Amino acid sequence: MGLFSQLGGRLVGGPSILAANFAHLADEVRKAEEGGAELIHFDTMDNHFVPNLTIGPVVAASLVPETDLPVDAHLMVENPDNLIPAFLDAGVASISVQPEAVTHLHRTLEMIRSGGAEAGVALNPTTSPEIVEWALPYLDFILVMSVNPGFGGQSFITEMADKIRRLREMTDLPIEVDGGINEETSSIVAEAGARVLVAGSAVYKGEPDQEMRKILESGRRAIGQASRGVS
Ligand code: DX5
Ligand code: ZN
Repeated sequence: MGLFSQLGGRLVGGPSILAANFAHLADEVRKAEEGGAELIHFDTMDNHFVPNLTIGPVVAASLVPETDLPVDAHLMVENPDNLIPAFLDAGVASISVQPEAVTHLHRTLEMIRSGGAEAGVALNPTTSPEIVEWALPYLDFILVMSVNPGFGGQSFITEMADKIRRLREMTDLPIEVDGGINEETSSIVAEAGARVLVAGSAVYKGEPDQEMRKILESGRRAIGQASRGVS
């Protein structure tokens, strides 16, 4: 049982370390943890699926022992099957793959789960929610990309709130959202039904503990207002 399976409708969040200072990664992660982060989002890019190149399982293996929080690997790569065993060995808690880059999604998700991690799919902004329908039994969460994957610091694509609502009609699986999340957009996605918020530049633009806390408070406030029928 991992974070996603045990959420029970709570709203949680974590930093995307893409926006952190990699020379001080463990400290950067700790700062966000002090602001209430409950996971660490780890972005792997390959300069093929996306036009950027970042970090892989070697860095994950160094980071996992440095934090008590679950490390959530988001693989924006072609051929993720080649990397999944090394990420599992590194001890990450969850792995999401981009279905646009995967031919045999069932096999890929089973590989993640059989290695003891939670399995997710990350949907590009124009990828239809229906693509997950036959994968639902093999999934622990769905990641809605609210920007085009590849870079931090982009603007939230507003239609993604509707995608979150559509997914909520299809499944009770927790929905994570990634891209352009800040104090303002966190309330929009939380109200739409997302329960795991990832934020990179909005956390590391200032004091990570304070920024993380503001994002979570705004999301929780929106959920509270929605449940009380306040518009
Ligand atoms: C984008 C990555 C995100 C990114 C988010 O491809 O998947 O995790 O770091 O960055 P912000 O929060 O700055 O949009
Ligand atoms: Zn990501």
